[in-house]
Amino acid sequence: MTKYMIEGGRPLFGELHISGAKNAAVAIIPAALMVSGPCRIENIPQISDVALLLGILRDLGANVRYLNPHTVEIDSTHLRNGRVPYESARRCRASYYMLGALLSRFGSADVALPGGCDFGGTRPIDQHLKGFRALGIQVDTQSGFVMAEAAGGRPRGASIFLDKVSVGATINIMLAATLASGMTVIENAAKEPHIVDLANFLNSMGANIMGAGTDVIKVRGVDRLRGGSYSIIPDQIEAGTYMAAVAACGGEVRICNIIPKHMDCITAKLVEMGVEVREVDDSLLVSRIGPLHRTNVKTMPYPGFPTDMQPQIAAVLCLAQGTSVITDSVWNSRFRYTDEFKRMGAQIQVDGNLAIIEGVEHLTGAQLEACDLRAGAAMLIAALAAHGISEITNIQYIERGYEDVIGKIRSIGGHIRAVEAPEEELSVSSAG
Ligand code: UD1
Repeated sequence: MTKYMIEGGRPLFGELHISGAKNAAVAIIPAALMVSGPCRIENIPQISDVALLLGILRDLGANVRYLNPHTVEIDSTHLRNGRVPYESARRCRASYYMLGALLSRFGSADVALPGGCDFGGTRPIDQHLKGFRALGIQVDTQSGFVMAEAAGGRPRGASIFLDKVSVGATINIMLAATLASGMTVIENAAKEPHIVDLANFLNSMGANIMGAGTDVIKVRGVDRLRGGSYSIIPDQIEAGTYMAAVAACGGEVRICNIIPKHMDCITAKLVEMGVEVREVDDSLLVSRIGPLHRTNVKTMPYPGFPTDMQPQIAAVLCLAQGTSVITDSVWNSRFRYTDEFKRMGAQIQVDGNLAIIEGVEHLTGAQLEACDLRAGAAMLIAALAAHGISEITNIQYIERGYEDVIGKIRSIGGHIRAVEAPEEELSVSSAG
C-alpha cells in the first residue's frame, strides 16, 4: 500500500503541462472497438482508468499497442463480443460505455453493472437504459449484469428526450446510435467538452454526428467506421485542480496545454475569490498574493461549475475570509470528504446537498483517507496549503484520474512523496 506524505504551507511556482482528458479518454477507448481498422489515439493520459479499459479491449481480442507513452494504437478488426466481467467493471465507472459500443458493433452486449467513484448516494443508469430501449434494444438486468440485444441485430434510430441531463447516458446513446440504422435525436443532452470530443473522434472515423455541445444531438447511423488518428482534448478538471492548488497555497503557476474556454466556469469563481488568472495562448497564468475572499458555488451541468471541481474548490474556500455556501445540484451527497477536512481544522457544516464553510486562518496537517477521485485531489490541495505534515492513504483513487501527480506537484515546488505503508518516517523531501 502506497501513501502520499505532504509537507504543506509553501506557495507554488513554475509551469505545468496538463494531460489528456480522463473523461474523454474513457469514452473514446470503448468507442475504438467500433472502428474497423487501426485507430491511433494521441494525448492519452497515463492513468489507471485508461489501463483498465485498454485491458478490457485486449480481453475482447483487440490489438492494443503503445507507440509512445501518450499514443496508443487500437485495432479492433478481430474483436469478439464477450461478457465484460464484474472484476473489470467494478473498478471503473466508464466500463458501462462498453454497452453502447458493443451494441453498436455487434447488436448485443453483456456487461457487469459499473463501479467507480461512490459519491455516497446511488448512481442510477435508468436514462441509459431508457435510451437503449428507444433504439429497439431489449435490456435485462440480472445478477449484476446488463444484458442487451437489439431487435433485428442492429439498433434503430429514434428520438429520445432525457429526463435528466446525464453525461453517461448521452455518451452511451451516442455510441449505440452511431452504427444504428436511421437517425437518432437526443434531446436534453449533456454538453460537456468530452461529449464534443467523443463526437469529433467518431466523426473523424466516419460517423455522422451533429450538434454535440448543444442540448440536441443528432446521430445519423452509418454502416461502418474506418481507422484514423485522433488527439484527445486537455483535461479541464486536472487543470482546474492545479488552479485551485495555486489559489489555496498562493504563488504563481502557468498551466499549459489547456483550452481556456473550457476553464471559464472555474476561472470565474477563482477570480471572485481574489485569484488572478491571465490567458496567454493555450495557457493560463494563475497567481494569488492577497487574501482569499468568500463566495458561493453551485454545481451545474456544463457550462456551469463542474461537480468534479466541487471538493477542490471547497478546499480553497476553507481558507477564504467569511462564510461560503456550496450547493451540489448534480450529486446530492458528495460531501463525505468534509469529515477529513474537519480534522485539519476546517469549519464545515453539511446539510443535504449544501456545505456551509466558515473560512479559517490556516489548516493543519493530518492523516487523511481519500474516499473518491476528486475528494482525494481536494485532500492534496488542503494538505499542500496546510501547516505541517499530512499523509493521504487510498491514493489509488487519485491515480485513477491524475497522471504523474507527484512529479507535477514537485515541479511547482510542492513537497510530496510516495511511501510504502506502513513506513512511519515523516520527513518529506522536495525534488524541486
Ligand atoms: C460523469 C463523470 C463524473 C461527473 C458526472 C457529472 C465520467 C466518466 N464521469 O458521470 O465524473 O461527476 O458526469 O458531471 O465522465 N442520473 C440519473 N439517471 C441516469 C444517469 C444519471 O438520474 O441514468 C443522474 C445522476 O444521479 C446525477 C446526474 O444525473 O444526479 C448526473 O449524472 P451523469 O451526468 O450521468 O454522471 P456520470 O455520467 O455517471
